[in-house]
Amino acid sequence: MSYSRWTSYKSLAHLFLGAFCIVRWGCSLVQGDFTSEDILVADFESGSYEPWSVTGEAFGVAPAQGTLPGQMAVTGYRGDRLVNTFFRGDRTTGTLTSPAFVIQRDYLTFLIGGGRDPKRLALRLIVDGEIVRSATGPNDKPGGSEELSLEYWDIQPWKGKMGTLQIVDEATGGWGHINVDHLVQTDTKPLVPRLDVTREIRLSERYLLFPIKNGAKKRIVTFKVDGKRIVQNEMELSDSKPDWWAAMDVSAWSGKNAELVIDKLPGDSLAIDQIYQSNQLAGDSPLYEETKRAQFHFSPKRGWNNDPNGLVYFRGEYHLFFQHNPYGWGWGNMHWGHAVSQDLVHWDELGDKLLPDEMGPMFSGSAVVDWANTSGLGDEANPPMVLLYTAAGNPTVQGLAYSTNGRNFTKLDANPVLPQVTPGNRDPKVIWHAPSQRWIMVLYVELPGKQHSVHFYSSMNLKDWRLESVTRGGIDGDKYLYECPDFFPLAVDGDSSQSKWVLLAADSQYAIGTFDGKTFQPEEQRLPGHRGRGFYAAQSFSDIPKEDGRRVLIGWLQTETKGMPFNQSMSLPLELGLTKTDHGLRMTYRPIAELQKLRTKSLVFHSPILTPQSANPISSLNGELVEVVFEASPSSDAIMEWSIRGEKLRYSQSTRFLEGFGLKISIPKSEATLKLRFFVDRNSIEIFAASDQIYVPIPVSFSPENISYSFRILQGEAEQARIDTYELRSAWNKEMRR
Ligand code: FRU
Repeated sequence: MSYSRWTSYKSLAHLFLGAFCIVRWGCSLVQGDFTSEDILVADFESGSYEPWSVTGEAFGVAPAQGTLPGQMAVTGYRGDRLVNTFFRGDRTTGTLTSPAFVIQRDYLTFLIGGGRDPKRLALRLIVDGEIVRSATGPNDKPGGSEELSLEYWDIQPWKGKMGTLQIVDEATGGWGHINVDHLVQTDTKPLVPRLDVTREIRLSERYLLFPIKNGAKKRIVTFKVDGKRIVQNEMELSDSKPDWWAAMDVSAWSGKNAELVIDKLPGDSLAIDQIYQSNQLAGDSPLYEETKRAQFHFSPKRGWNNDPNGLVYFRGEYHLFFQHNPYGWGWGNMHWGHAVSQDLVHWDELGDKLLPDEMGPMFSGSAVVDWANTSGLGDEANPPMVLLYTAAGNPTVQGLAYSTNGRNFTKLDANPVLPQVTPGNRDPKVIWHAPSQRWIMVLYVELPGKQHSVHFYSSMNLKDWRLESVTRGGIDGDKYLYECPDFFPLAVDGDSSQSKWVLLAADSQYAIGTFDGKTFQPEEQRLPGHRGRGFYAAQSFSDIPKEDGRRVLIGWLQTETKGMPFNQSMSLPLELGLTKTDHGLRMTYRPIAELQKLRTKSLVFHSPILTPQSANPISSLNGELVEVVFEASPSSDAIMEWSIRGEKLRYSQSTRFLEGFGLKISIPKSEATLKLRFFVDRNSIEIFAASDQIYVPIPVSFSPENISYSFRILQGEAEQARIDTYELRSAWNKEMRR
């Protein structure tokens, strides 16, 4: 953030300083030289309604200590107690009346919440037997919030007269209660929250930048162009200095009049005034040079990512869509972000392509190329890319969007293509099944009793889907076959005449079996996938050309990057295989060959024998970004230890356990020698072992200062050791740093 921007906050903040004092009543009480101190009329803290008088049941015997049984959490009151007429639920009624008091100040301020019904749910000021002021709560439909907020009346007309306050609850239905607290007479006009705060902006630059404070109250921000609602998001808007600036790409509406409407802001909030336009992202560090930015794992420029979506090869580019919250550091506002790559290593993020709409936020899904134009959404010369996604509103349905250029996407007018099966249905993964010449969709469906299932559908045109079969997994607590299914054939040990189908779920457990175009017959079930942590919802690419023939998978890597304007990332792209083992078929994960492009300085170390006396063979390896390929024949009692940027990783040949980073992983014997390969980025390590049967992704917060590595034998010895080490370069190119 520029200095001038912050100084302008400071001067604005100055203006509001007095206002803070007013909101926090204590100030005027402490500073007793005010000519007219605030007068506390009631705070309901004494544990009794005295000297107010009660009728009916709704008020209980004493002021409530916050939330009552069966009520949503009540917030926004002051101290320990408040008036809360939810006593015995909504159906109770009653009144609470103050003794008469002298009206001596200009304003009466109070906190109020609960149901909205001016006739039956009210706080009233009565003067000379007449109701002269009245207020009610904010809620008149299911849902809503039990938060009290500050309101006030101008009571100057009755100064010098006697007044009485009365709280009335005559409502018995939903939201049939009222909450009141902290009534004060004051001469200082309070700052009350502003509702539907609006700002018009003539769009001229690429981005609208929003001030975000992580953990701040979420505000509903509606973005309209020419009076038409484009999108609505929830943002943790900063009322003062932000933690970071979220960017909304508004280039599509350049030259038009936009309107921003924010549902509610504190009276002294600077949030809406701070929003500004720019052709650049805002941030202290240049893009992709931030201290915690992964350098060869994809992460979004700004905001949060979770699942990879719509992985597809189309017109010479790999497309990576992803669950994206452009406006928060945590999950929310699900958009489909979009990035493209020529080689699966260097990614160029292009902006959000599927925005939340009336059908809900855009949850996970997949993409295919409709080569024969079965959908009619392109033509044979221009086959469309088709996205299938979950619109997670109520109902939660499956939608379709398409593109013929891989840049602009249109949602189908006739959406949804699949109506809700159960509210927990999501994450369609679509594949072309050549033998039956049909599209197959695998969909996660939570069945009653929290049973997990994968529903198999077929279609001729990607728009009309027919249920073919249902595969059951586990029940809740046994997350087998839970969320984000993927389904693909894999050749056994590279022999495609022997391929098997794999059904994979979000936690990377999988089943292996056969598929006849309708039903999946598992032969092996509940096989564990990766052996690390923080790896979830992986998906494989569709339409990788036959000549290439690889099945490439990318997972969500849960790297937490505190203090950065972005959070989370993607795993390395992994080439999948199936291999025969003593226990049956198992999936293998291999880092894709293209990653070798990142290798810079290489060092090769050879030794016929390494013992506890040997010097550290990799002492000259230094760097935040590193690849290590290790091979040796350990003696049966050998224990060896790597130190990776200060983190220890140990392997014992007698137990075959690899231990470190809080994990203990059993390494099956798969080859004559011990082979290990690992990649270190700024916030992760990914380890490959046992002929790629073992993949261990681990988010790690490496200390940036420690960039050294060592290897030693603690016990026993290792023969024919070969350690190839590579320092790696960043995958972020200059032209991508826009
Ligand atoms: C998995 C998941 C999906 C869902 C998406 C929402 O991480 O819960 O099931 O579609 O994330 O962001």
